[in-house]
Amino acid sequence: MEFFATAAFGIEGIVRNELERLDIHGVCENGGVRFSASPAQAFSANLWLRTADRVLLIAGEKKVLTFEELFEFVTSIRWEEYLPKDAAFHVTGKCARSKLMSVRDCQAITKKAIAERMKRSYKIAWCPETGTEYRVDVAIHGDVARIILDTSGDALNRRGYRTWNGEAPLRETLAAALVMLSPWNANQPLHDPCCGSGTLLVEAAYIRADRAPGLTRAFACESWPIFPQKQMKLLREEACARFNPSKIMDISGSDIDPNALSLCKRHLKQAGLGGRVTVFEQDLRTLHLNHAPLFLCNPPYGERLGDRKSCEALYRDLRALRDRHPGSRLAAISAHPGFERCFGQRAAKKRRLYNGRLECEFLVY
Ligand SMILES: C[S@@+](CC[C@H](N)C(=O)[O-])C[C@H]1O[C@@H](n2cnc3c(N)ncnc32)[C@H](O)[C@@H]1O
Repeated sequence: MEFFATAAFGIEGIVRNELERLDIHGVCENGGVRFSASPAQAFSANLWLRTADRVLLIAGEKKVLTFEELFEFVTSIRWEEYLPKDAAFHVTGKCARSKLMSVRDCQAITKKAIAERMKRSYKIAWCPETGTEYRVDVAIHGDVARIILDTSGDALNRRGYRTWNGEAPLRETLAAALVMLSPWNANQPLHDPCCGSGTLLVEAAYIRADRAPGLTRAFACESWPIFPQKQMKLLREEACARFNPSKIMDISGSDIDPNALSLCKRHLKQAGLGGRVTVFEQDLRTLHLNHAPLFLCNPPYGERLGDRKSCEALYRDLRALRDRHPGSRLAAISAHPGFERCFGQRAAKKRRLYNGRLECEFLVY
């Protein structure tokens, strides 16, 4: 089967590398990675991908120029192989740079065409839609319609541990990408000096402990008849056995804000990491550690005019923090274009990434 793992702009290559580690060969496209896989492999992708947003099954793809062509194409898909007789199917849509530009019409036609095919195949007068819910998406781009079934359900960043958001939290998927892009290795401790609600710390600990990000959550495809129940159960058990919290050593964080810290502690506990990651209240301007870690952080960006100056001062303080710890390294994400100037040094490596809609740079020193 054909699948597409969606990802934020700039991290498609990381998703492809993650798929490679699952023995799945993928090809990067804008906004994600396309790959061929068995349903069991697609389940593994849901369970293990740290940086992808969703895993979508491509039910069909074809050039369409008229609503009639769209209808014919969608009825030609073997829906009976994907959907049980009582499936409830909700259709969403998007159109760009195509002859067919009415999203509502494309949605309605797709829905009607699926119902038509189901009625014919199952020899029923109407679709009851009383069973499992399936999310179908019709995405038309450059006159090519891609019909998609969402195998993930909730987006993959929803690992289950983050129940409350602090100030400007990082998406879990982006946080995992930053850990992977950073020069962190097994011989160096990691410290986040402005850890906020703790997303970078949890994702770093999960990577270190070989903990599948989706271990304690469900995926839409788990209730689909075409996905192999026994195999998925085994894959989950295997993932459970791989989780080794004793591998989590030397990951710590601090923040100036006591409220952010209590949230962080709650998230660490909910992530099953209580007692494994040390966090404490501390202004980074006076932070002294007795080791030389990799400082990995998501400091404030100062988007609001009044905050800009204090942010710039904080970037100078980050430089002083690094210099107070000889042998340490620092990696930070920021949307502030003057980060390097304020830090007072050119980064050894830079990468353009998006934090939501904000264009950022990930700078490694
Ligand atoms: C963008 S938020 C970090 C969000 C975090 N990555 C998360 O996922 O929740 C920036 C954090 O920097 C902290 N901060 C600001 N100034 C600080 C300082 N001088 N020392 C330590 N932390 C500071 C804020 O309290 C805030 O929690």
